Amino acid sequence: MNRRTFLHLGLGMAALSAPGQTQARPPLRLTDLPDNTGDFGLARSLLEEGDYVAKIQGRLPPDLQGTLFRNGPGRFDRGAYRKQCILDGDGMIQAFRFAGDGKVRYSNRFIRTSKWKEEEASGSFEYATWTTNAPGGMLFNLGANVANQAGVSVWQRNGKLYAFDEYAKAHTLNPATLETLEEMSPGDVPATFAAHPKRDPVTGQWILFGLQMGPSTTLHLTILDGQDRLMQYRPFTLDKNYYVHDFFVSRNYIIVPLQPAIISVLGILAGTASVVDSMQWQPELGTTLLVFDRKNIAAEPIRLQADPVWMWHSFNAFETSDGEIVADFVGYDAPDHFLGENPAFFAIMRGIHLPFKNEGKIRRHRLNLASRKVRTEILHHGGHEFPQLFSEESMKEHQSGFAVIGNQPGYFPDGIARIDFKSGKRQEFHFGSGFYTGEPVIAPGRSGRKHWVLTLVYDSKMDRSFLGIFDAASIAAGPVCRIWLRHHSPLSFHGDFAPI
Ligand SMILES: [Fe+2]
Repeated sequence: MNRRTFLHLGLGMAALSAPGQTQARPPLRLTDLPDNTGDFGLARSLLEEGDYVAKIQGRLPPDLQGTLFRNGPGRFDRGAYRKQCILDGDGMIQAFRFAGDGKVRYSNRFIRTSKWKEEEASGSFEYATWTTNAPGGMLFNLGANVANQAGVSVWQRNGKLYAFDEYAKAHTLNPATLETLEEMSPGDVPATFAAHPKRDPVTGQWILFGLQMGPSTTLHLTILDGQDRLMQYRPFTLDKNYYVHDFFVSRNYIIVPLQPAIISVLGILAGTASVVDSMQWQPELGTTLLVFDRKNIAAEPIRLQADPVWMWHSFNAFETSDGEIVADFVGYDAPDHFLGENPAFFAIMRGIHLPFKNEGKIRRHRLNLASRKVRTEILHHGGHEFPQLFSEESMKEHQSGFAVIGNQPGYFPDGIARIDFKSGKRQEFHFGSGFYTGEPVIAPGRSGRKHWVLTLVYDSKMDRSFLGIFDAASIAAGPVCRIWLRHHSPLSFHGDFAPI
């Protein structure tokens, strides 16, 4: 069996003394699962690759022109086995093309990672992924080879399309055909990359971070200029194997939130546990915020201590006139939907919708660099995820934000919210029970007068998905248009809109 190391977990004695215990879960056997396991579309593979003109319901805004790209797991099962967690599968890019001719062309294509190609040839899972070990037991998982699935985010930049996994290299694709081009490192640095780089709307810079677990964990920071030339790169040693999904960038600072989700690499190295099985929530550690000077990331970062909080996604960061850094995000008291005995994101793969309540609150860290203190406030309670903002408001004091909202059994939301951070007012639209909304991507209209909000919605009664198009100014009025797929879409994490 040919196994390659994509996510490098260093070997060493220090790793063996890492804290935490492992709760090894073997891959799910399809024959052990109930017949209805695949009924829920967000957790069901979409194996066919298509390219067709989609049906439009409602009025397609003529000034919505460009391409929405989305990325997320497209394949959860292969051979006799199924991934443990809905957050784990081979990356599949979906594209909705708005050419201004009154039509919408849809296509989807799997990213041809080395893993995908080898498993396509063999017909079975061959590699461990971040939540699920390869079949066959520890001998088939020794040495911590975790495959790059390129399945978390997609970014269009300078004519290139990038697909990111987590703590791995990027893949580039042809934006017109979705053909996979190469596995590579932006800036050609010896780094790993998380899925959430930040674009500076003023300078055009691209700021990326990644983590590389091992006996001494490395944080990689990379800054590219507007033409993607390398400006700064820094590997920075951390004292623990933190799991960090996203970070903050303001005009002058990079803030990395080291949340107390700590990975013990012992079980991973021994081949007995996946990365997520080896992750423990240790709230007693609190959250450490590392603050780097953007102009000189080689300088020693400032360390600030905050209350423990789980963060999937940051929203925005900016600096105030009185010297504070404000960092807004969706935060949870604890990641109980993801870690622990029977979390919702794992149960759903066995066909079980746990009565879980999403407690994703919009929170605000206020970092005072002079006093070295952090105050954290809750701005909006309950049920948010996938925060988005107008790109022109990034890295400055924002007025508006968007997020998915709502609770249904199994965690997943049914609505879209627009939040006015200055007045505190909100607009919400809920599709209702059985509808599941995805990240609201903001698309600028070609006329410059409007923005559109695009959310991929799974309609469980129809067992099909549609792209809901909202006028960003009138979220509560509901979608002006629905672009219907001929099939369902599995859970799609993140997207990017590339205007024509
Ligand atoms: Fe994400």
